[in-house]
Amino acid sequence: MRMYDLIDKKKRNGVLTDSEIKFMVDSYFAGEIPDYQMSAMLMAIWFNGMNDHEITELTKVMAHSGDMIDLSAIEGKKVDKHSTGGVGDKTTLIVAPIVAACGGKVAKMSGRGLGHTGGTIDKLESIPGYRTVLSRDEFFNTVNECGLSLIGQSGNLAPADKKLYALRDVTATVDSIPLIASSIMSKKLAAGSDCILLDVKTGSGAFMKTLDDSIKLAETMVAIGEGAGRRTVAMITDMDTPLGLSIGNSLEVIESMEVLQGHGPADLTEVSLQLAANMLYLVGKGSLEDCRKLAEVSINDGTAFERFCKMVKAQGGDDSVLRDYDKFAKAPYQCEVIAKTDGFITNMNSETIGVTSMILGAGRETKENDIDFSAGLVIHKKYGDEVKSGDSLVTLYTSKKDSLDEAEKLYRTAIQIGNKKPPQKPLIYARVERGKIEKF
Ligand code: URA
Repeated sequence: MRMYDLIDKKKRNGVLTDSEIKFMVDSYFAGEIPDYQMSAMLMAIWFNGMNDHEITELTKVMAHSGDMIDLSAIEGKKVDKHSTGGVGDKTTLIVAPIVAACGGKVAKMSGRGLGHTGGTIDKLESIPGYRTVLSRDEFFNTVNECGLSLIGQSGNLAPADKKLYALRDVTATVDSIPLIASSIMSKKLAAGSDCILLDVKTGSGAFMKTLDDSIKLAETMVAIGEGAGRRTVAMITDMDTPLGLSIGNSLEVIESMEVLQGHGPADLTEVSLQLAANMLYLVGKGSLEDCRKLAEVSINDGTAFERFCKMVKAQGGDDSVLRDYDKFAKAPYQCEVIAKTDGFITNMNSETIGVTSMILGAGRETKENDIDFSAGLVIHKKYGDEVKSGDSLVTLYTSKKDSLDEAEKLYRTAIQIGNKKPPQKPLIYARVERGKIEKF
């Protein structure tokens, strides 16, 4: 078999066979196919796509390129969650303890943030002492004792995807539905949970900018999951506006604890409850309505919050910071961005707001950058809110005093203030289950 022939076939919109896909991925991973040939293949896929069978095969081959984690030592049904990435998206910190408090098991490996989106592992590391690297036995024991464990991704989870993703990143081939779906699902299949809940973000801060593309990506990933014997549901949620009010690592942990104690922002609470209800539905805790009620009760009676604290303690973290936020390290510099006109917030560009928080030190421009856990921003006026001249739009937090000017200027470009109150937008646009698409 020759890579040249496979590139030529895909260029002419041909369908790759199972053995051709396996040859291409395995040989590239082994260093036997050069980057330039794989780049040409990725671009041919970008233009011509792949059919469902090709996508499933690509996913399986990438999943099997490393460890396939066996979670059978954990009792009960395990449910994983994946978000396609967003600004201010801290839902994992909220839904995992809710699901655990209601009897589901969450054994989750999460990633770090890069660019304008944050990563769960960075947020967790803002909790003093919290260990994101556990041995396999520690990981399993924590889930058995607490119902959840949130750790960093093992280096050997779908390593062929890691190599391919790095190539896609520099060849403008990231934004392809077959490649995104197979990349995400290869890691989810390798991570070993019985069920998978996908949160596909749509809008200005997301990979998928349109609802149609988001639904297509969701359908593709649900088909892959179900084809591999994992119950899979996808929710399409809004990322035109950041979720919640806080962006930045310890700021997002604090906001998540507020939600778990019943006084978080309404949008973040609602999206978290819907995601948690769907995870509970997947592990068989009843109808969606029943699962929603279970999730609400776990917030109201404090059991979800206590689960999170228990896990933090089990993983070496200081859970007292979760009860007394003043114990978190504080950013030495802060500044308010003040409205110069009256009106309503008619647009917020999530991606630009994410970049603002990165400039303040909350995110990484390159993988090597360190993160300032206390940096970030807290929004005071969101999409649809009325604004009076002199109101504070946002508070910026940083350890780098000289970043404040640039961050303020950028934040002002991220929002628009108009005369008319804009129409309300849905938080959740659609839900995709095996053979069923519901639009809300
Ligand atoms: N996240 C992934 O893991 N892979 C992609 O291709 C895109 C987002």
